[in-house]
Amino acid sequence: MKPIRKAVFPVGGLGTRFLPATKALPKEMLPVVDKPLIEYAVEEARAAGIEEFVFVTSRGKTAIQNHFDSHLELEYALREKGRDSELSAITNAVGAPGQFAYVRQMEPLGLGHAVWTARNFIGNEPFAVLLADDLISGEPGALSEMSEVHNEYGGNVIALMEVAPAETARYGVVAPGTDDGRVVEVLDLVEKPDPAEAPSNLAIVGRYILQPEVLDFLALGETGAGGEIQLTDSMARLIGGAPFSGVRISGTRYDCGTKIGFLEANVAFALERDDLGGDIFARLEQVLESHRPDA
Ligand code: UTP
Repeated sequence: MKPIRKAVFPVGGLGTRFLPATKALPKEMLPVVDKPLIEYAVEEARAAGIEEFVFVTSRGKTAIQNHFDSHLELEYALREKGRDSELSAITNAVGAPGQFAYVRQMEPLGLGHAVWTARNFIGNEPFAVLLADDLISGEPGALSEMSEVHNEYGGNVIALMEVAPAETARYGVVAPGTDDGRVVEVLDLVEKPDPAEAPSNLAIVGRYILQPEVLDFLALGETGAGGEIQLTDSMARLIGGAPFSGVRISGTRYDCGTKIGFLEANVAFALERDDLGGDIFARLEQVLESHRPDA
């Protein structure tokens, strides 16, 4: 099985749930502790062996391009001051010339439309899609776990996690076939089903390895849930062709598209850090104490 070389990062959405912060700042540039969400996703892709990166952007997203570009003046200033760790923090993100590409979605017609917009870059090979607002902690990264399954089974691979049955209407949900506890055969995909109609509580997380045939279905431009061109609907049409597997990811996923998930991620990532964890723990205890409902 050929390794996956290309990844698509759809960052064309409006980020309305984070207004006013996202009026002028791309949602994907919101930091978890001190690193933007999009950089975590790029690091995860790099660790999984991705060599070419395409960002599907829109108006107002140039901060993302600048973030992955050199900043010679800043690099010079940090070098002069001997600030080596800050210097490597900003140069680590920079790709090799030609490794990062940007296409404009022009209209936010949905995730499926964003992926289709990257079709000329994808060409005729399997590719990965990563949604930066699904932040996933843990080693190995989720895309690495999925790559391993792709090497074994081929076809299409999606990331899964179990959610409370009452929450299925917020996710794409899988109808499972054989299930060895880690890899699940995908028999069907349903976008945002009501709990009463959900085929399982296995929800799709924002990581995908897809065969290029999905682009033919996306090209039809059919709209689905919410009037958007949904990736899930076109993925569902791939079932029955090449193998279609789901992987229960071992890491923790934070929904950084919501305020609660984003705040939770900041706390959890800060607590993990050697330079912050102890302090944050003590401060959080104080904050919680002073905000107890009966205090
Ligand atoms: P979301 O559903 O979170 O939409 O998209 P959004 O517009 O970013 O945020 P809200 O709901 O208004 O707060 C999931 C991912 O798909 C991308 C988003 O940028 C995000 O990474 N996306 C969504 C696109 O690239 N284009 C679209 O048309 C829609």
